[in-house]
Amino acid sequence: MCGIIGFTGSHHVQDILLNGLQRLEYRGYDSAGIAYFRDDSNHISIRKTAGKVSDLRAVCDDDNESHCGIGHTRWATHGGVSTTNAHPHRVGRVALIHNGIIENYKELIAKYNLAPQLKSQTDTEVAAALINKKYDEFNDPKKALKAAVNEMEGAFAFCILFREDPGKIYAIRNVSPMVATFAENAGSFIASDLTAFLDFTKNYFVVPEYHLLTLSNDGIEMEDLEGNTVEPEYLTVDWDVDAAEKEGYAHYMLKEIHEQPSAIEKTIAPRIKDSLPDFSVDGIDDSLFENVSDITVIACGTALYAGMVGAQMIKNRFGIPVTCAVASEFRYERPVLNENSLVIVCSQSGETIDTLAALRLASEYTKKTLSIVNVKGSSIARESNYVLYTHAGPEIAVASTKAYTSQVAAFYLIAIKLGLVSGKASEPRAKEFIETLKTVPNMIKTMLGYEDRVAGLTKRMVNATDAFFIGRGLDYQIAMEGSLKLKEISYIHAEAYAAGELKHGTISLVEEGVPVIAIASQSNVYSKVISNIRETEARGAYVILISKDPEVTDPSICDVHFHIPDVPDEFTVFEVIVICQMLAYYTSTGKGIDPDKPRNLAKSVTVE
Ligand code: G6P
Repeated sequence: MCGIIGFTGSHHVQDILLNGLQRLEYRGYDSAGIAYFRDDSNHISIRKTAGKVSDLRAVCDDDNESHCGIGHTRWATHGGVSTTNAHPHRVGRVALIHNGIIENYKELIAKYNLAPQLKSQTDTEVAAALINKKYDEFNDPKKALKAAVNEMEGAFAFCILFREDPGKIYAIRNVSPMVATFAENAGSFIASDLTAFLDFTKNYFVVPEYHLLTLSNDGIEMEDLEGNTVEPEYLTVDWDVDAAEKEGYAHYMLKEIHEQPSAIEKTIAPRIKDSLPDFSVDGIDDSLFENVSDITVIACGTALYAGMVGAQMIKNRFGIPVTCAVASEFRYERPVLNENSLVIVCSQSGETIDTLAALRLASEYTKKTLSIVNVKGSSIARESNYVLYTHAGPEIAVASTKAYTSQVAAFYLIAIKLGLVSGKASEPRAKEFIETLKTVPNMIKTMLGYEDRVAGLTKRMVNATDAFFIGRGLDYQIAMEGSLKLKEISYIHAEAYAAGELKHGTISLVEEGVPVIAIASQSNVYSKVISNIRETEARGAYVILISKDPEVTDPSICDVHFHIPDVPDEFTVFEVIVICQMLAYYTSTGKGIDPDKPRNLAKSVTVE
């Protein structure tokens, strides 16, 4: 949440900051701003505005004289959406941008009598005022910064300009993510996410917590809080800058929906050997899966729904006890874990703060912590004992699509491995399953062929105020992700229900014309779910049925039918979800909403 970038070097800083912020905009788009030094001067200029990066561009003059600055795109936490609350915040001789929340900001205001200096309602301005106060005291940026962060509680990633130090950016973080790099041909960069500087280099390092960085035209110096120099550990990203561009698609979301076949291929191909799962590329041997007493899957949002599909599969196929936990709840509950519990943490970004906190708590009970993560080097990846990268490439749209299907594919590999190691899966059955998994990219390609038909439903969907997704068994888990997609980007109230549960209350909400997206892809409950669908159709619902039936013409069942090719029940998730994703996308664009940037949401949720 909130995107931050800093640059100092040989290029014009405004261009770099504005282009970088454009790439980081998925992290928040309530307001945007930049601060920069005019070359060799001690003057810090600030341009900021409520609104998107495009609005910020409009208030920036074409300043070619500046080569050092910081930029921010905000997802509002403390204080409403306004230009005053936009970052950067300047207090005295300090200008600063921040991602995170300073929890003890009220105490700090009182302790240091900072109130007279504050113009905004943000906790960030309090941090700026405190750092400025310490700067007045020590007259040394590093000492000031160390002293200030020592007093702060909460999560933060700061980039700071000190007026007497033109050409330099100081940075420090706790919890909130930050990566940095020095590119020979340009200069030093720091950002929330490497997409901000991917035009210049594919190398980067994750800024360790509580380490102080000084960025200059010549390079980046890093030290711990005791003042010891620390060498950065550089990583290389394995995708190109093109992967972070729209490549002709109207939106990132549509592009990412279409990328699913290749994303899944990249997730599974390196981990299949002789038609069986093999995690040697991840350095994970079978001992992780031996003597597992129970499994807890922890995640948020779409990653949680992917986990629920994985959990259903592990439980139903192999009878291993699995619990799924909402990370923000798990972290405040009493964990029921032992040293043989396997904890699987799932996160696209690897930075969701609740998931990270839940992982930290679980790690106190078991060493068997395995994460399924997309972003290399992210906090969750580093803090779990084992990590399985999905390799889905950058996911920019706020609504997650390719991350979901690649996470499900990763869960399926893990499930089969667990089955084999526990002796509950036979090798021939496991091979058969993995051979089917290899065909998933083609299943998705087939479903993408429905795009025009799904888009044809837009007219009907845009007028809906409510929608219900129903299914049984695995279809219910899929329904949850389907309804999340629709509600987050179309603002239509959408809920998922276990179809058999409708009659216990929700059916009272079904009236003439309400869309019901009915998923009937599980053979063992097929006839049951069809009965439930009839119950909604009888009450006037507009039923969109997704099933394996070649044809359904009975108007007492549905108004529209999508036939999905007949694959084993555990694989229909990959087919059904593509229809749900496209339905959400076209409903959103049909309503004139930008699906890549739905209101109030952000992609990487680094605040509690
Ligand atoms: C936010 C995003 C969702 C995402 C969830 C978990 O709510 O909008 O798309 O599923 O966070 O994110 P993670 O990076 O942990 O998968």
